[in-house]
Amino acid sequence: MNIFEALRVSHETQRALSARLLASPPQGPERHKVFLELKRELLAHETAEERCFYVPLFEHDATVNASRHAVGEHHEIDEMVEDLEKQELNAAGWMAGAQKLCDKIHHHLKEEETKFFQEAGKVLTETQKMALARDYEAEFLSMRMKEH
Ligand SMILES: [Fe+2]
Ligand SMILES: [Fe+2]
Repeated sequence: MNIFEALRVSHETQRALSARLLASPPQGPERHKVFLELKRELLAHETAEERCFYVPLFEHDATVNASRHAVGEHHEIDEMVEDLEKQELNAAGWMAGAQKLCDKIHHHLKEEETKFFQEAGKVLTETQKMALARDYEAEFLSMRMKEH
């Protein structure tokens, strides 16, 4: 597996969780459960992706702008999650905020997969692509295991 394939695993999880969140009923445990799972997935993925993908890409002139942009979007996504956490899950405006979050996530994943991965593919060596996948997977798992 290379780094792009490894990153896409969590991207698919995020897409599936976003769809489940938007379809969740306002009452009952599903919405809270899915929101918490999405939050944990995002946190582990963003951190591991920054450490094992964007940090090495900051080293290259050709990928510095992409890295800066992506890390900025991670921060925006985190802030949207924090805003949602402050509101009641069944409050009137909650779903509008969740829709905005999911739209942002979809935009971010698409930009990474269709633009940044191609740019990164040109500057990373084949050996690096494989080694970064292993680093990313270890980091992602350790982030997920820190949760309670
Ligand atoms: Fe990302
Ligand atoms: Fe990503």
